[in-house]
Amino acid sequence: MPSITINGQPCDFRPGQTVLQVASDHGIEIPHYCFHEGLSIVASCRICLAEVWAPNPRNDNKLEPIPKLLPTCQITAQDGQAIYTDSPRALANKKAVMEYLLVNHPLDCPVCDQAGECTLQDYSYEHGRGVSRFEETKIKQPKKDVGPNVLLYSDRCIMCTRCVRFTREVTGTNELIVDGRGNKEQIDVFPGKALDNPLASNVIDLCPVGALLDKDFLFQKRVWDLTSTPSIDGLTSSGDNLWIDHADGRIYRLRPRTNLEVNNWWITDEVRYGWKHVHSDDRLTTPLRRKHGALVETEWPRAIREAVTGLQQALDGGKRLATLISPMLPTEEAFLLADAARKFDERATFGVGPIPIDGEDQVFPPDAAKDHIQSPRAPKTMGEPRPFVLRAEKCPNSRGVKRVLDGAFGGGADFSAFVSRLKNDEIGAVILTGNYPSGWATEELRQALRREGLFVILLDTLNSGLVELSDVVLPSCTWAEKAGSFENADNRMQAFEPAIRPLDFTKPEGQIAIDLAVTLETGSAENAAPAPSLPWVDAPNKDYSGMPRNVTAQPVGMNGDGDIDSVRQVGSATPAGTGRPDVATPAAHPPVPRRVTRMIYTAAQVRQHMARTHDSLSMLATHVHQPPAAQTRAADMQVVEL
Ligand code: SF4
Ligand code: FES
Repeated sequence: MPSITINGQPCDFRPGQTVLQVASDHGIEIPHYCFHEGLSIVASCRICLAEVWAPNPRNDNKLEPIPKLLPTCQITAQDGQAIYTDSPRALANKKAVMEYLLVNHPLDCPVCDQAGECTLQDYSYEHGRGVSRFEETKIKQPKKDVGPNVLLYSDRCIMCTRCVRFTREVTGTNELIVDGRGNKEQIDVFPGKALDNPLASNVIDLCPVGALLDKDFLFQKRVWDLTSTPSIDGLTSSGDNLWIDHADGRIYRLRPRTNLEVNNWWITDEVRYGWKHVHSDDRLTTPLRRKHGALVETEWPRAIREAVTGLQQALDGGKRLATLISPMLPTEEAFLLADAARKFDERATFGVGPIPIDGEDQVFPPDAAKDHIQSPRAPKTMGEPRPFVLRAEKCPNSRGVKRVLDGAFGGGADFSAFVSRLKNDEIGAVILTGNYPSGWATEELRQALRREGLFVILLDTLNSGLVELSDVVLPSCTWAEKAGSFENADNRMQAFEPAIRPLDFTKPEGQIAIDLAVTLETGSAENAAPAPSLPWVDAPNKDYSGMPRNVTAQPVGMNGDGDIDSVRQVGSATPAGTGRPDVATPAAHPPVPRRVTRMIYTAAQVRQHMARTHDSLSMLATHVHQPPAAQTRAADMQVVEL
């Protein structure tokens, strides 16, 4: 393999890589602003310049210096080169570039959203001067509202043109332009054309400084207070890799996670802002059961018992159980639900929930722009970049759910066939799962559920017209609150872990399925011993799920039926900002610690179990891509105690 040395360190490389890419592959940081792997190379910011010595074939291949500093983002590595980014000339260049960029840059870091992830801050600290020599008045540029989701603070811009190239080369929409020259130069939208395309907000992540900002995240949180958990798009069939940035049990933003085999460096705005239902005031948070014809809040054990008893009664006399498995659910939960249903009725039938389709898949870049990005100036190591695809299918796991139903349970009907089947008197009970980000039930389904004698169990996240038609309602978790795996439109299976704790008393559908099956077999989901017939987890474990955060004890003062009839919770059942009131601890009822041992839903163990017990699902043991570790940001400065 050819190799070069960078600051004396030998680095091998693949032909076609730029020096900057070789350095980055070997953990050597070269500062850069205008370079981005997904865009063409312009080499305009000049901060990455380095001293280059190259073998001279006319002089017996002796190393000779190239007179001028060269941009490492643009020159391709050649065998035998010696690169110096720490020579006096290279260091002086970085200092000069930093001083130049800061001439007109406002010093408003304390109020800038980018603080903490701003490369201007970082490079200024590492490569800049300690003091400014600029005594003149800084040029002020206006703030601009450039699109539905993006604000432009023009005077923070360092003219790297990443954003302009993105709209030219990736989306092909050309909304952004460079207007003016010299120190009057600024980024602007093309007259009369807002920055409004399906990928528009990626310019926020591309901008190395705080010039392009997210309206939705503006002034919401300092980034060093956020924890970033790797996750997968939970809304569409793209399987886009992303980071969920959260703090105190609340999501603040979603960002793309680079994966050149899936989504490159981008996500759609639809995915980026599609998490709002997680903290919706419409979330179902407490189990409900029907009592004297009305739905009342109840505790989990009681709700599960009611569901089990109701199912047994409804299926008496040879009636059948129908289970609708939502394509919003992870593969593991689909399996557990189907498995639990078969424990109640070995002839139980299945259906796949509605698969929302919105238009057609859209490919980026459109053809013209694609030609541009594959021009000779594009980084060679990218090879043929996969086009980014915006998927028309608005659910993450229809393929995984079908794979499980086909592979282990004889298949499932599509939604309309399932609803037609419900009209048949032969069906005595139905389990419905939803977990969609908005209402999903059709009028035909509602009509079918009104049939006399049909026992309905609903597992869902949002309050909807279906709640009133159900006998037991079991509140479930969104994808951000649980683990599992999704299979995307390219049949790529990707696992994800929970980013935040389940809201209030909600539980993952996988846990609810286990509780139903364990209660059927042992009479209670709690303190059940492992049994050969309940093999999805290795061993029972302590369970604190289904309890609101900050609660150290199970609700006390249930009435005789286990229903919640007044203030019960200890501590706050309210995640910050949900708008639900805290409740006080009743002095007469000290908290009673509750240590329940139960079978805990563990996605990885369920995957292993599926692969072990069904040959057709064996790929789940080997083909599921695992997420990287979560990232916690921390200030790199010493805390000064005052
Ligand atoms: S707005 Fe940001 S991304 Fe666009 S040119 Fe300026 S600094 Fe670069
Ligand atoms: S990163 Fe090399 S010139 Fe900008």
